[in-house]
Amino acid sequence: MTTADIGPRLNLPNRHAHLWWVRPDVFTEPEELTRYRELLPEEERAKIDRYRFSRDRHSGLITRVLARVTLSRYCDVAPNRWCFRANAHGRPEIAGPTSSLRFNLSHTAGLIVCLVSRSRAVGVDVENLNRHHRWLDLAERFFAPAESAELKAVAGPDRPARFLEYWTLKEAYIKARGLGLAIPLNGFWFDVSGVHQGGLRVRFSETVDDDPSRWAFTLERFGGNYLIATAVGHRPNETVRVSSYEAIGPLVS
Ligand SMILES: CC(C)(COP(=O)(O)OP(=O)(O)OC[C@H]1O[C@@H](n2cnc3c(N)ncnc32)[C@H](O)[C@@H]1OP(=O)(O)O)[C@@H](O)C(=O)NCCC(=O)NCCS
Repeated sequence: MTTADIGPRLNLPNRHAHLWWVRPDVFTEPEELTRYRELLPEEERAKIDRYRFSRDRHSGLITRVLARVTLSRYCDVAPNRWCFRANAHGRPEIAGPTSSLRFNLSHTAGLIVCLVSRSRAVGVDVENLNRHHRWLDLAERFFAPAESAELKAVAGPDRPARFLEYWTLKEAYIKARGLGLAIPLNGFWFDVSGVHQGGLRVRFSETVDDDPSRWAFTLERFGGNYLIATAVGHRPNETVRVSSYEAIGPLVS
């Protein structure tokens, strides 16, 4: 297999991050799915096979193929040649071949996303807006006081969406840091009131040793039912541009 099987090589400039998305349900051809499976090393296939439900096995397969194909769009490495390792908190990272590419994955029913950059910390989270939530309980447990207060001030019908906005942004940030829940979730908080004017802001308490000027966040409604948040690390006051692309099948021909 070569990178030619996935189309032309793309450029990923330093101050850009690319968000690739795919709807797993469009991949139904058995031969295509067999070809995808053959891209994966035995341990990745075994992990997928352990999922109890077939929809999770399908989503797991497409997620892993999306990650490999996405990385291969930017360099001369065939999708089946990537090796990954998990960091101490479970974040998959490139173990080889050596590359400046960084990536992060997120999946929910009906949508899978992969965010990729060069040499920058990236985190992404996708959530389904229709998912049932015990949102008020969770807000009290996980959110900073400023977020909980803002949620209570939002009109009742708008609260679930605001809850998910905070949630999705928090997930994107902890995933970009790669530290999982070692980061106290109430130790940083978002102000989303200016999101449509590019004014999405984060604040950190002393328990989270970080600097808002080193992070760019995006928060988008997607396809009516989804929210996607991205977090990209950068040098102070640099701007980062996040562009979205659909990964159209077949992912590998
Ligand atoms: C991975 C984690 C950080 C997010 O999981 P999630 O939202 O359930 O699932 P997502 O689909 O967004 O992300 C899962 C993917 O992230 C990647 N991932 C796993 N651990 C990760 C970590 N520590 N950091 C970054 N990415 C990670 C993997 O690719 C994983 O895909 P896989 O399970 O198919 O291998 C999860 O382990 C976690 O700790 N969640 C925190 C839950 C919580 O309390 N959130 C409160 C927010 S207010």
